Amino acid sequence: MDRPLAGKTIVLGITGSIAAYKGAEVARRLMKAGAEVHATLTRAGCEFITPLTLRTLTRNPVTVDMFEAPEEWEVKHVSLAQRASAVVVAPASANAIAKLALGLADEFIYAVALASRAPLVVAPAMNTNMYLHPATRENLDRLRARGAVVVEPEEGELASGAVGQGRLADPEAIVAAVARAAGRGDLQELRALVTAGPTREPLDPVRFISNRSSGRMGYALAGAAAERGARVTLVSGPTELPPPRGCEVVRVTTAEEMREAVTRRFPECDVLIAAAAVADYAPARAEPTKMKRGAGPLTVELRPTADIVAECARARREGQIVVGFAAETEDLLPRAREKMKDKGLDAIVANDVSVEGIGFESEENAGVMLLAKGGEVRLEKMPKPAFAHAVWEVVKELRGAG
Ligand code: C5P
Repeated sequence: MDRPLAGKTIVLGITGSIAAYKGAEVARRLMKAGAEVHATLTRAGCEFITPLTLRTLTRNPVTVDMFEAPEEWEVKHVSLAQRASAVVVAPASANAIAKLALGLADEFIYAVALASRAPLVVAPAMNTNMYLHPATRENLDRLRARGAVVVEPEEGELASGAVGQGRLADPEAIVAAVARAAGRGDLQELRALVTAGPTREPLDPVRFISNRSSGRMGYALAGAAAERGARVTLVSGPTELPPPRGCEVVRVTTAEEMREAVTRRFPECDVLIAAAAVADYAPARAEPTKMKRGAGPLTVELRPTADIVAECARARREGQIVVGFAAETEDLLPRAREKMKDKGLDAIVANDVSVEGIGFESEENAGVMLLAKGGEVRLEKMPKPAFAHAVWEVVKELRGAG
């Protein structure tokens, strides 16, 4: 992804934070990523950086005063709002965040944000206490709940000399978030079916066999696809996670329930990603009442469950893509390759769950995506949402090639 923003129009609002000078660097990197940038300064922003700097960098007029050309401004904020692929506020002061959360429109950037249906990316920068104040937290939560992307500030030395969280995120991280946000909609025609979480196989009314899957990877995959415009159904085993925004969630408990839910919906989807850690074995029978403790050993008979992803892969029609996951603790790649072949998958994401800090129960993942047509894509260690986007990138290419 050399110029991920080529052909995109980005409206960049720089507000009254001491980090405003870094807004120029954000503008420059957005340009380098291929974007056409329309920068705007709030009045407070102008105390820190001049419109001339931004005009020179972006080669576009810089709006400061909404009312400077009354016959034009209305047209301009609406037309820019419509053309924008993303509206970016970087740095966003506490005041800017409050205005965006409330929907005020007393400066050009806020009017654009209100008039635009494009994704909003907010990169806060302020003193730690302002950032941690409940008012700011609530405002950021409100923006997130509406779908805005918040690029969290970093810990470090602040303008005041104090050390804490509140330093504007790295401009590269901001540009990456903008590229992802502006790319939203690239899966608009896609119907995705995703499985997530563990399954529970009952032994009796109070006991079950399960595994350590948290469901995070599958939820991230579902959320990432929905963010990019796909119609997503998430079939989830028991997890503690909030449902990802914009997805239909079907809750199941056992492998058999998951099989039913997935095979019924499979014909209607374009892509199935099976990230669930489905039990491979289930007790042959679940006792109707709680089992009593006995003196001797207890033997439980386990029967294999149906292999859901293999069943779907066998039933798939032309053009449908089926992706599995292989969580292994040894011989990762040979085993994953074998699984992909045996199950008849188009691709498999292999991760080594014996490595600390990735895979089960963790926030990050790393792995290798093997492709049935040959080749592999290495996915370096990254947060699961980023990992999910990377997996969808590969799926998108597979669809394009098919
Ligand atoms: O065979 P194994 O469980 O190791 O394979 C892992 C892959 O197969 C995962 O994608 C998982 O979601 C899927 N699977 C399945 N149904 C099962 C077992 C695994 O869909 N019963």
